[in-house]
Amino acid sequence: MNRTVESGKTLLVDGPASVTVVSGKVEVFGSMLRNTRKIVIREGKRLPFAVKETATFDISFGENANIEEVDGNTIPSSWTEAYEELLNIPMRPVTAMVLGTVDSGKTSFCTYLTNKLLNGKQKVAILDGDLGQSDVGPPCTVAYTFVTKPVTDLFSLEAKNAFFIGVTSPGKAVNKVIEGLTSLKNEILNNDPDFLVLNTDGWVEGEDAVNYKFRLVEQLNPDIVFFIQQRDELAPLLNVLEKFRKVLVDSPSAIRQRSREKRRSLRELGYVKYLRNAKVQSLPMGWLKIEESELIGLSRKRENIRHVRKIYELLGVKPLHFAEMRDKICIVIGRRLWISLDAIRKIEEFAKKKVVVIRKGEEQGLLMALHDAERNFLGIGVLREIDYRRKVMKVYTPVSKNISVVAIGRVKLDKNLREIPGFAEENQ
Ligand SMILES: Nc1ncnc2c1ncn2[C@@H]1O[C@H](COP(=O)(O)OP(=O)(O)OP(=O)(O)O)[C@@H](O)[C@H]1O
Ligand SMILES: [Mg+2]
Repeated sequence: MNRTVESGKTLLVDGPASVTVVSGKVEVFGSMLRNTRKIVIREGKRLPFAVKETATFDISFGENANIEEVDGNTIPSSWTEAYEELLNIPMRPVTAMVLGTVDSGKTSFCTYLTNKLLNGKQKVAILDGDLGQSDVGPPCTVAYTFVTKPVTDLFSLEAKNAFFIGVTSPGKAVNKVIEGLTSLKNEILNNDPDFLVLNTDGWVEGEDAVNYKFRLVEQLNPDIVFFIQQRDELAPLLNVLEKFRKVLVDSPSAIRQRSREKRRSLRELGYVKYLRNAKVQSLPMGWLKIEESELIGLSRKRENIRHVRKIYELLGVKPLHFAEMRDKICIVIGRRLWISLDAIRKIEEFAKKKVVVIRKGEEQGLLMALHDAERNFLGIGVLREIDYRRKVMKVYTPVSKNISVVAIGRVKLDKNLREIPGFAEENQ
């Protein structure tokens, strides 16, 4: 469908849709467009095309897509002022951090700042700290890249490096998120940027969130912090961040809120992006360093043989795999095998540790991160199977070379890369 929109108006397009600017001059989040190729808008996303010179669009609609024409520009004037304030900071590099609740416009604001800075010939890195709604890296990671030309959607960028967290919400991994972002920030600074734009997750309300964001800001030590306010949800955070340069900006009124389900499907597109061209690879476990392996009982520590033999005796069967850790024992058994509660209780009494029984197959679908020997991030994968007898891990991944260190996450994906209930050790 063709549509002509006059200068001074904005065309809001809700995906799934694709848009080509056929003629005229249009701006999207600070990126100037003329005669574009197809711009894809994913389901759950809205893109504002602010028309600068009367423009004709060619639009294809997916199911439930929508368009709406509004007067004026939906980019708040406080965003333009924020950019000017940022640019006027005299030193380089400048680290700018963006805070705001979910669906406040964090990603769009980062896109806007990045595009504007690029138009001004600055060298810009974007560090994406939102592990649940990641734009740059795979979901469950924090990641960065250098942006070389203006973009309408940060999702079109490939991560230069990422740090795997393994969960979708920061609440369960506060230290890891802080560690990951700190290490990526240092790596970026070693590459001489003018500006580092740091996005964050939307967990800002409540005491735990405020404590976490306080630590994050202290540790990342930005030169300026932008707060995207909807109401007064950021007030507690503003109060505790005394010593930082703070700028309040508005959350655009044209924002479209997303349901949990929409957020999940958007995330699943992130798995698809980073698992394109994946194949099942067999990785001999003897050659691998496996991190977070306790989750599936893959620790290699062995106690003395007599001790283990006694446990097998109490168990009544030889397990597929056995691992004794500092505070617990993991026993992996076949899918259909049955172990009495009584036997487990006896082992717990004997070893004075908690016993966790894992059934073969429970590992299937766990999200993983793959690294080389220097622990550089190579990509993600999905654990298909652990062959305990042959000591081989089968992983669905596009990474094929140099895998030396793997980390196991808590998110599980089915064969269609949809999230399914994760590995809940607590429930056993
Ligand atoms: N000025 C605007 N005009 C129209 N739509 C906008 C504007 N700013 C943002 N949006 C749209 O609103 C939606 C939410 O914005 P955005 O993704 O930037 O928020 P967010 O805070 O990053 O959300 P999340 O918590 O999911 O990461 C997006 O589809 C975005 O394209
Ligand atoms: Mg976002």
